[in-house]
Formats: sequence, C-alpha cells, structure tokens
Amino acid sequence: MLENLQEQPKDKILALMEMFRADPRAEKIDLGVGVYRNAQGVTPIMRAVKAAEKTLWETEETKAYTGLAGDPAFAEAMRGLVLGDAVEAGRVAAAATPGGTGAIRQGLELIRLASPGATIWLSAPTWPNHPSIIRYLGMPMREYRYFDAAARGVDFEGMMADLAQAKPGDVVLLHGCCHNPTGANLTLPQWQEVAALLEKTGATPFIDIAYQGFGDGLEEDAAGTRLIAARLPETIIAASCSKNFGIYRERTGILMAVAENAARKPVVQGNLAFLNRQNFSFPPDHGARLVTMILNDAALRADWQAELEEMRLGMLRIREALAAELRRLSGSDRFGFIAQHRGMFSLIGASPEQVELMREKHGIYMVGDSRINIAGLTEAAVPKLAAAIIDAGV
Ligand code: LMR
Repeated sequence: MLENLQEQPKDKILALMEMFRADPRAEKIDLGVGVYRNAQGVTPIMRAVKAAEKTLWETEETKAYTGLAGDPAFAEAMRGLVLGDAVEAGRVAAAATPGGTGAIRQGLELIRLASPGATIWLSAPTWPNHPSIIRYLGMPMREYRYFDAAARGVDFEGMMADLAQAKPGDVVLLHGCCHNPTGANLTLPQWQEVAALLEKTGATPFIDIAYQGFGDGLEEDAAGTRLIAARLPETIIAASCSKNFGIYRERTGILMAVAENAARKPVVQGNLAFLNRQNFSFPPDHGARLVTMILNDAALRADWQAELEEMRLGMLRIREALAAELRRLSGSDRFGFIAQHRGMFSLIGASPEQVELMREKHGIYMVGDSRINIAGLTEAAVPKLAAAIIDAGV
C-alpha cells in the first residue's frame, strides 16, 4: 500500500528552515519562518507565560480531558481579546484548536459542511498554507488582487473589483492584520468598504488573525475584524496565540463563528465540537490555559501587554533602520515601504534569482517570493542585509 504514495510538495517556508539549519556559516541570517527573535537572536518565553507556567505547575491538579471545544474560559478570554464588545457574546460559538493553522483547517471544514461547493477567495498573494489546505480539502478557490507590486501597497481597486464577483455562500479569506506575506494592510475606511461589499454580495468573511499586537497595537490590530463582525450577519475567525504569546510549539488557537443570532449558536457550537472530535478529539490545553490565566489576571495581563508592546516597537525600529540604511545606500526612497508596512513581514520585491544570490553569497535566507521576517532581524544585522539587497541589484 505505502508504495502508492507520491512525494508531497514541500512547504516552502519549512523547507527554508531546514536549509538554514544545514548552513554551517556562522554569520548566516534567518529571515524565513515567522518567529519573533529579540536583539540577541533568541525567541524568548514571555515573562507572563513563564509566571503563569510556574503557577500552573504549582496548582494544576489534573490532566483529565477538558471539553471537546476546550475550556470555555479560554473561549471567553479570546472572544474578549479579539472581538471586544463588537458583537453579543451569545452569538459567538468557539472551539480551541491546535494553533492558528488548526483553526483555519477547522474553519474550512465548517464552511464545507455549511456551504458545500463554496468558493474560497484568497488574497494574491497569501500565506502558502491557505491554498495548500484548501486544495487538500478539495474546495474551490479563487484569488482576488491584493498587492500592487509596483507601489508595494494594497491594490484596493483591484481587490474591490474582484470581490464584487463573489456570490452568496462564497467565503472571503481576509488577514485581520499584519498581512502575510506582504506587510501591506487595509486602512479602517477600506475595511468599511470591504464590509459594505461583503454585505452587498452576500459572501461570508473568514478572518485569519495570527499577529494581533504585532502591527499598530492590540486594539488597533483587531479593529478591522471587529468592524466586520459588528456589521455582517455572520463572521468566521481563526485566531492564533503562537506569535503574540510566543507559545509557538504549544499549538494554541481558536476558531470563532459569529452566528446571525443567539438562537443559531448552539447548532454552530455543536458543529465545532463535532469537527474537533472527528479530527483530533480534545484540543491541546496547556497553551490555552496559560493564555486564559494571563488574560484573566490584571498583573499578568499588564506585563504581557508591556512585553508585547516592546516586541512591536522593536520591529518598528528595525523597519525604520532598514529603510534608512537602504535609503542611504541606494540614494533613493524606493525602499520606504519597509517602514510603512506592519507586522512581521514585508515583500521586498526581489526576483527569485536575487533571493538565491542573497542566500548563496551572503547567507541571508528569505522566502522565495522575497518575504523577509523583520522579527528575525537584529539591529546589528541591518547593515549586512541592506548591503546584500543592494549588491543583489534589488
Ligand atoms: C509563517 O508564515 O512563517 C508562519 O505563519 C509560520 C508557518 O507556519 O508558516
């Protein structure tokens, strides 16, 4: 039987991670996978996470199963973090999932149950695992224009023109903030226009929010999601705690489905629990419990927010330093977009050959589409990266 298996295409981001590990050069720089690193190049365990883990170790008395949808307290804490008071709690069904990817997978399966044959609209470009999972599930998909490669910003006109073709029952996948891979984001007035267009077409929004707190701030980064959820009858949201709590390997995420009214919620909730049972039964609990403890304790929450803010501001400083160094070296403002983009990523506009050259000659690893992870860069490494970008002729 196993001889029938074919090689699967490698995930480009994860393949790059392996290549980086295998490179013996000491001065190599990893700008690939979306993992935050501090000035020392370390992915730290956040202070509040450490403190919560200590308390948990001292007080946790059982590892017995939680509920199929995870601990309701986690769902409640995450509803508050992502949605604030944008919608009534009684309309929000939610289930804990293994990471943000798990939430996306469960969300797509929910969509397939609710609207078989639904076309999923994806931004061009998007996180490569979006189309990969959709293809694997055999669901139809289409792209909408999103990134204007010349202006290195959002092609909003193209986006609106393409999304105008969405049909009722279709689903539009939107990045809640910190667009991956481009770093170019919608403004609040643009979110308003997207909401109006979704209303008009009858398509359902599916929001992937994996970097809340990495862009303009915790509240600011949730504003688009809240606006959509407040305005549309139904919204599906996949949220990740991997990045903003720095608990990547704990696999902590949540799928939320905002139902049209409270009467509809129990059936939606039942479907979320059913899907968890089919795919992995009970979701992982450790990370979810830490997040719940942090969000529900004023002191831990304040410390977490302060550290997250330090991380966010550090990324902004690096964006500015890189843009300034590139301005100095190129004598032009053509890399100014790096300081304008938000979140971990920017697409810097290098060709695949230029990306390869930077890897081979300078030991700088970025994804083939020239996505760089700003949080993988230290201030000390900025001059080296800027010089390599200019040397490669970008
Ligand atoms: C990324 O885009 O690098 C992250 O979301 C990590 C991943 O799983 O790809």
